[in-house]
Amino acid sequence: MVPDARGHVSKQGLFRGRLLWFEREPDGATDEDAYHYIEDGGIAVADGRIAWSGPWSALPDEYGGVDYIDHRPYLFMPGFVDCHIHFPQGQVVASYAGSLLEWLNTYTFVEEQKYADPDHAGRMADRFLDMLLAHGTTTAVAYGSVHKGSVDALLCAALRRNMRMVAGKVMMDRNAPEALTDTPKTGYDDTKALIAAWHGKGRVEVAVTPRFALTSTEAQMEMAGALAREHPECLVQTHLSENHVEIETVAKLFPWSKDYTDVYDHYGLLGPKTLFGHCIHQNAREMARMAESRSVAVFCPTSNLFLGSGLFSLDKMRTTEPPVRHAIATDIGGGTSWSMLRTLDEGYKVLNLQGQRYHPLRSFYQATLGNAEAIGMNDKIGKLEAGYEADFIVLDSASNPAMALRSETIATLPEELFLLQTLGDDRAVVATIVSGITAHSRGKL
Ligand code: GUN
Ligand code: FE
Repeated sequence: MVPDARGHVSKQGLFRGRLLWFEREPDGATDEDAYHYIEDGGIAVADGRIAWSGPWSALPDEYGGVDYIDHRPYLFMPGFVDCHIHFPQGQVVASYAGSLLEWLNTYTFVEEQKYADPDHAGRMADRFLDMLLAHGTTTAVAYGSVHKGSVDALLCAALRRNMRMVAGKVMMDRNAPEALTDTPKTGYDDTKALIAAWHGKGRVEVAVTPRFALTSTEAQMEMAGALAREHPECLVQTHLSENHVEIETVAKLFPWSKDYTDVYDHYGLLGPKTLFGHCIHQNAREMARMAESRSVAVFCPTSNLFLGSGLFSLDKMRTTEPPVRHAIATDIGGGTSWSMLRTLDEGYKVLNLQGQRYHPLRSFYQATLGNAEAIGMNDKIGKLEAGYEADFIVLDSASNPAMALRSETIATLPEELFLLQTLGDDRAVVATIVSGITAHSRGKL
């Protein structure tokens, strides 16, 4: 057994505290069948998986007398899943730009050039994973830079930590600085090489990653479609319908297209494995194609507010027939917080501005099991159930003075969750457990 952050060694990893995990998306505020909540619970871990979870009073005999990590009165939850984040943008966050294309050209395309240097990419990979864990995120779907080496660095670091991580080398062959472009052939060859080297190794995977239609030629889009066809085991990730100028530019670059979604559709890039970041301004035809193809729309609230991109509508997803699958994500560095708690809070406000409600049972479902479903991993992560991978977090809903003050009047679980999402941040994350090992601790254990 490997020691945890305190150098604590136990025969089996055993944890005690309050437990919460979801079984399915809650229908509403009173849908108690959608989740499991255990006031005094235990989680036993063996070989990186949950071996047992349940009420402490029902702890199996084999764990009797086993040393355990006591996190009472804190709340265990499955680790957060971030469905859209940019690895090379940790030092782009908080760059003063009005909107998407100015932000990309002025800051992002400059910063991402640094990732040509494998030493820089390697150093940043560990910083990136440290940041995720400090914020309670145990799985992310990440964009690398255009450089294959950026993805080698990130996935190597994730593999060392036994983290479940997906990443892809961005493909761009136009409308970007020379130093940040590949070609249809090198984009294809590098992605193939990444898949061969990493996909399915430990807990890491590779995603086919054309950055967005604006920075790819028709030839490159064809190659991206070929990669997606040849590798049905891989997720595909890209950006779609984020900004009005972006949408107009894509319409000019692909004059035959019915709309932006049609561009990706034409190249065979819609489907249940595709994550489309943003999806703010799509029309009814586009929504119907998203729904039919079972593509996933990824809500990036802090980014959409920061870049003034627009208001993502959950009702639009839900009222399409069948409903459009969706996820929620930070979109660091267009996004302004690494914290899924801050992201849920901003998501709540974006929806409230449109008269839509985001109940905390639903938002915490989304950040855990819901996002795991969006990336097809809900049989592996997102629950605190025997057989699931042992990635979980410990949350403190009185972790800053404002939360402590307010928590005195909290009476129910939904109220506590809403407090966590409205006032919580990385300080609320007491510990992050990856593959059964405490990989981050707030230092207050
Ligand atoms: N569209 C294309 N690239 C990007 C990016 O890096 N961030 C965001 N938010 N949108 C994009
Ligand atoms: Fe993005």
